[in-house]
Amino acid sequence: MGSRNVLVVGSGGREYALCLALERSSSVASVIVAPGSAGMSTRWKCYDIKTLDHTALLSLVDREKLDLVVIGPEAPVVEGLVDTLQQHGVAAYGPSAAAARLEASKVFSKKFSQRYGIPTAPFQVFTNPTAARTYVRRLDRAPVIKANGLCAGKGVVVSESIEHALSAVDAILERRAFGDAGAAIVIEERIAGEEMSIQVMCDGERMLVLPSAQDHKRLGDGDVGANTGGMGAYSPVPLMTKALEEKVRKQILEPTIKGMQEEGQPFRGTLFAGLMITPKGDPYLLEFNVRFGDPEVQATLPLLDGDFAEACYQCAKGELQPDVLRIANKHALCVVLASHGYPGSVRTGDRILGIKEAEAVPGVTVIHAGTRKIEDEVVTGGGRVLNVVGVADTLQEARDRAYEACGKISFDGMHYRKDIGARALKAVG
Ligand code: AMP
Ligand code: GLY
Repeated sequence: MGSRNVLVVGSGGREYALCLALERSSSVASVIVAPGSAGMSTRWKCYDIKTLDHTALLSLVDREKLDLVVIGPEAPVVEGLVDTLQQHGVAAYGPSAAAARLEASKVFSKKFSQRYGIPTAPFQVFTNPTAARTYVRRLDRAPVIKANGLCAGKGVVVSESIEHALSAVDAILERRAFGDAGAAIVIEERIAGEEMSIQVMCDGERMLVLPSAQDHKRLGDGDVGANTGGMGAYSPVPLMTKALEEKVRKQILEPTIKGMQEEGQPFRGTLFAGLMITPKGDPYLLEFNVRFGDPEVQATLPLLDGDFAEACYQCAKGELQPDVLRIANKHALCVVLASHGYPGSVRTGDRILGIKEAEAVPGVTVIHAGTRKIEDEVVTGGGRVLNVVGVADTLQEARDRAYEACGKISFDGMHYRKDIGARALKAVG
């Protein structure tokens, strides 16, 4: 056992997966979480501290003699938690608030991409609703409208018609549906293609490219229905060939890391590049996130061999040795089990059965995202309740394992997509 004491900041399925990967790391002695969740508290000590309460987090760091803090969600890094921790002398995995603008401001990230020739949809920025409406009316095709700031994944409207786009402009710029996050908007061209992502761990200068992943954002099979936080993911994506990954690296990832460094805001932590691959095979950057994807990382971490905690530590210290982690020749697939009503208003408190039986399926891990414990029973406690992850030598087998395990779990109102990874399997035959 190692000697490192690690704190994970966050409470969802992504953070549960991070805890598992950190716990597997040979450099780690202990893992604790803030604020964590009921599901996490059965395995790790959780401290009920708000992620914005820097004072309380710093005293936890001192009290528990922490050597590394790994931050899951975007809000704390955007609010400067990494800056605070680093100033305090603690290694914190994640970007500074300044570097986090790649996610926190769509205007910043679009203009940055333009400065460095990174392929991204042509765009215009507006703060004035009249000017925005005039621009939209002159377009030939329905555009994508994006609120500048963080909107918990709801600030992007891929419009179906010019009318629809005009109503999005009104909602965001005029009526301020997202408050100040919508004080400016990006209007951009809609790009057609296959959406996927690549996550890289960076130390400001060097990077470690993790396997590609594909999320399934719509509620229903066949990509229909409401948008969600993500109903499942698999990794790696067959369409992301070595040659395409090389293009992404050269055209998007390297210029970004270099550009941020040149601008005096070196990027440390996870850079998540949301990509659209056009039918011709060209990658376009749709968005940056400055943290691991949820549920993408649930399907990516099981493919990494080596000391994940050490990789995070090296990134935080600016001394990444990219061979600290190796990518195993395996596949992982994650299915999200959602509660009654998700993604609308959800019902909680439904008793969950079969988790143990699901975990008995070879190669399967059950990750808690939104669960609660009432006495000895595990019940639903959020919209996305559990993530069932299957790992195997092939995508087909990873998928079979995950779905076999899903079949063993039940709770009232449970629903999940039955087609995670199906299109990818069809594509590879
Ligand atoms: P973003 O938060 O910028 O990634 O946007 C959310 C979602 O909107 C993406 O995951 C895509 O599915 C979609 N999207 C964003 N920008 C575009 C675009 N230029 N063309 C087509 N779809 C887009
Ligand atoms: N699954 C997309 C995200 O984490 O933003």
